[in-house]
Amino acid sequence: MPNALSRGIFNLFFGAKRKPFASLPGPQPGILGTAGDFLGASPWDVCARYGREYGGVTLIWMGPNPGLVLNDPALIAEVYESPRRMEFEKGNISEQIRPSVTDDTAFTAELRGDWVRKRQLEPGAQPWATEWLADQVGPMQAAISESVDALLKQRHIDLTPALRRLTFDAFSVASVGEKLSDQVFEDFMLLARAADARIQSKLPLKFVKPPKDFDAVKARFYGHFVDRIREARKRQDPRAVDIMSRYLRETPGIDDQVLAHMLGGTYFGGAFSSSVTLVGAFHQLNKYPDADARLAAEAASLVADGPLTLAKLDAAKWVEAVAYEALRILPAVRVMTRTPSKDAQLAGVTLPAGSMIMISNQHLHRDPAHWPDPDTFKPERWLDGGTTRDPLGSGHFFPFGRGPRACVGADFAMVFLKMALATIASRVKIQLDSTEPFEEGFFFGVVLPKGVTGKLVARTAQALLKAKVG
Ligand code: HEM
Repeated sequence: MPNALSRGIFNLFFGAKRKPFASLPGPQPGILGTAGDFLGASPWDVCARYGREYGGVTLIWMGPNPGLVLNDPALIAEVYESPRRMEFEKGNISEQIRPSVTDDTAFTAELRGDWVRKRQLEPGAQPWATEWLADQVGPMQAAISESVDALLKQRHIDLTPALRRLTFDAFSVASVGEKLSDQVFEDFMLLARAADARIQSKLPLKFVKPPKDFDAVKARFYGHFVDRIREARKRQDPRAVDIMSRYLRETPGIDDQVLAHMLGGTYFGGAFSSSVTLVGAFHQLNKYPDADARLAAEAASLVADGPLTLAKLDAAKWVEAVAYEALRILPAVRVMTRTPSKDAQLAGVTLPAGSMIMISNQHLHRDPAHWPDPDTFKPERWLDGGTTRDPLGSGHFFPFGRGPRACVGADFAMVFLKMALATIASRVKIQLDSTEPFEEGFFFGVVLPKGVTGKLVARTAQALLKAKVG
């Protein structure tokens, strides 16, 4: 809370500006407005605290500019889902990530610009996306099994980077039919770090310098996909099921560069968010061994008679419940921003064009008025109708956002998460050094678990040992 002098100065200069917002609750502004609350604290924690302290809408001041933090499902629906959603653009994330992610993805498009066209081009929006998804389960399972074998040889792992690489490799199999080299992964990480520096910068973007060799690395990263596309066009393998081959069969006229940008873009959209969701899940499974044992048992039964399939995953209710619960309790993307393109009425006030609207799922995902025992990892809450009571994208459960601009990769992410949980749990136990809450960082718009370390133990070896001891 700013001191009396700081509050007095704000009122002296901006008191008149505050008057039209008098109906809204919020912290007292000081010289910096209320931005001081966000200094040294995670924005999602601040948004959640505001939800607890002030309710569904909180008035904030970014310096002299008013903004809102929304924790009210109805207001969030107005911004995300109602016809009025066209009044609200994404915050400046598009500008921040555009140099790395390119302009050929829905991520960076403006709602009132060419967003519809770009969204329709995305892999997840294709009419054949479900069929393609079914084709990916087996190949991604094989890729993850191989990655697990490699991790088993390591005595100690840092789970976040380890599962990031495992995810990147599985995505590559789905994307171009095979794992990619360390060079491609390193190029991807450099581009992601460059975007992250822009996202986290306190300075205007023109002052944020790209890393050395940025242009060359970007050309090499996307060029790699262009080369593969050209080879695939020549090969024309009718059995290839990866997304690149599927595009080339279904839309042969697609531009190589555009397709390369989309293939590269899937990693930015999903590799961080999907892998940290797995880290969160395994962290909670370590804390709740009964849930872990049930996952291992269901996973073992799924692989007992052959490779995983989409049908098997659809029937695997505990695996699904674990994925949902991880997305509820530790959502990877916890703060989203919107900005009115022109002055807009919201929550009974007129928000000036360009104001910041922050929407967070953290508080609503743990709202005690909605969820019994909200802070406990309880996959069982999703059984017996739980997924129908609180479907993805509903008022108290929106890890992938809500409405037409929600995550275009959500279906793929769900299949990936369930497949990865089942594959990993059927083969190993991830034994962590600690189940204490981990420190949370922020990278590329995603909450990043830090210091989650441990090792993999083969389930079969463990079972054998137990049997021997018994
Ligand atoms: C657990 C994994 C994932 C989570 C938690 C997640 C979360 C989200 C969220 C919350 C949004 C909406 C942001 C907003 O409203 O401002 C979003 C958008 C998006 N996501 Fe995901 N995502 C995941 C996986 C993926 C994957 C695997 C892909 C690609 C294959 C992907 C591609 C995208 C794209 C392109 C958008 C922008 C859509 C648009 O603006 O129209 N995401 N994601």
